[in-house]
Amino acid sequence: MRIPAVRQASMLALFSLLLPCARLYSSPPGPGGLSGELGKSIYEARCAPCHGLSGEGNGPNAGLLNPRPRNFTSGVFKFRSTESGSLPTDEDLTATVKNGLQGTAMSDWGKFIRGDSLKAVVAYVKTFSPKFQTDAPRPIRVTSSTPMTAASIAAGKKVYEKLQCADCHGTDGTGKGVVAADFKDDWNFDIDAADLTQPWTFRGGSTPRDIYLRFKAGVDGTPMPSYVGTASDKEMWDLANYVASLARKPVWKMSADQLKDFYAKLDNDAKANPVQHGRYLVRTIGCGGCHSMYNDSLGIIEGTQYAGGLTFELYPFGNYTTRNLTSDKETGLGNWTDQEIKRAFTQGISREGRKFLPFPMPWASFASLKEADQDAIVAFLRTLPAIHHKIPDPEKPNIFAYLWGKFKMLILKQQFPASVRSMKPSEGEAAPVSEAVGSPPKPIALRSPEGKELER
Ligand code: HEC
Ligand code: HEC
Ligand code: HEC
Repeated sequence: MRIPAVRQASMLALFSLLLPCARLYSSPPGPGGLSGELGKSIYEARCAPCHGLSGEGNGPNAGLLNPRPRNFTSGVFKFRSTESGSLPTDEDLTATVKNGLQGTAMSDWGKFIRGDSLKAVVAYVKTFSPKFQTDAPRPIRVTSSTPMTAASIAAGKKVYEKLQCADCHGTDGTGKGVVAADFKDDWNFDIDAADLTQPWTFRGGSTPRDIYLRFKAGVDGTPMPSYVGTASDKEMWDLANYVASLARKPVWKMSADQLKDFYAKLDNDAKANPVQHGRYLVRTIGCGGCHSMYNDSLGIIEGTQYAGGLTFELYPFGNYTTRNLTSDKETGLGNWTDQEIKRAFTQGISREGRKFLPFPMPWASFASLKEADQDAIVAFLRTLPAIHHKIPDPEKPNIFAYLWGKFKMLILKQQFPASVRSMKPSEGEAAPVSEAVGSPPKPIALRSPEGKELER
């Protein structure tokens, strides 16, 4: 279970490939007075690589992030102190930008952006949705809290049962053995219910007050509803205390013995529910982020998830298209043995014995996955419904073009853009949906030599 390392490695691989340059975004300041200019220039340098120049959540880095950067134009925000469906307050937005959202690519910008700059960038974010002109945030009235006593926690447990939180979060809060597990957000991306035993992953904060606000406000844009009207305030405070009490000890505070027991339990769970565990790993690592095709607004084209088709143009190495991981017997992994699948993603060797480049797929870092985790990934891939989608073999340059390219890189120190695009329909066979055939391929990422400034 060394996911963080693997995740980090794959994220790094992606970022090193996709990090755009700050220059790309430094267009001249627009109207809106001095603070408007300041907000715009900070936004374009710092935020646009993920949230897009037009705030649509489709910056060059967005395609491969999970969860995806917010699309600001719809005016839907997850973490608010306001009623469900209402806009956030300035304080809510400022807290998000300052503190970041735990466990996502949205980092804590408070270290870099303060004071007037922070105010200006928040004001600029609000210009993307016309709702901020017409609607006012409707703040939630926060009643006085209930102290976290044994009685309140016991009462909160009853509320947890009454409100059927377990349907999505599991009886023990870990999300295991749930009724509903395939959640999508309003933007059609897969998301997971929070693991309530790991409060340090709560994006909206982990104090009883933060948790109480989540019940009242809901998490807009996701299946996590608001409970206003279904439970009293007292019940919501008891429930918040109960959820806070579910926190397990974080691994970094465990003793050696506790760690051993903890990982043994995780291993047992993984072996008992390989498909569920594999699904978790595949989604955490983000295999589908590469092994899918995207439309022009960077949404996954329906019917291509895990069916491959994203082409990495890597001069001078050639063009490499991600492959079909579904159970289709002819064009996917349907006829592969477990060993062959594991060898491909941990050793970078195709079924026919062809060696993959060490990038873009960071197979060397997947090699550090434990055997049980690798088996779980295979078990999950086996459950993907077959999609017939033939992927072309890599296009490699001839030896002269390759050597000339290497010479320019190593000796002349020139750098070249690496770009990513969805496969052209003519390259594959039986593109799964008509949308894929209709939409022209569009490069979604560029890297240029000045990219360094944004590396953080
Ligand atoms: C590396 C990518 C990345 C960068 C750079 C980035 N963000 Fe985000 N941001 C995200 C992601 C991902 C989310 C969505 C997380 C989620 O859905 O839980 C997000 C969400 C947000 C939200 C919405 C929170 C909510 O309640 O819905 C705001 C506001 C925001 N970002 C502002 C900014 C600002 C301002 C900047 C620049 C200073 C910035 N972001 C830079 C990735 C990024
Ligand atoms: C229909 C399914 C569903 C139900 C019912 C549900 N949740 Fe959630 N919950 C979710 C999802 C999905 C998320 C993750 C949202 C996201 O991606 O930001 C979530 C997130 C959360 C979070 C973390 C928010 C954060 O700050 O990151 C808490 C706490 C939480 N739920 C508690 C509860 C409790 C307690 C109940 C019962 C009152 C409940 N949920 C009912 C689906 C559900
Ligand atoms: C950064 C993008 C990226 C990520 C993330 C990624 N892959 Fe890949 N994968 C590729 C590319 C590109 C290829 C094709 C390489 C080639 O043909 O040389 C590939 C090839 C494969 C193959 C070989 C299939 C075949 O038909 O030859 C398998 C199996 C595979 N990936 C599984 C996975 C799994 C499982 C994960 C998650 C643990 C994953 N990949 C994550 C980019 C990625």
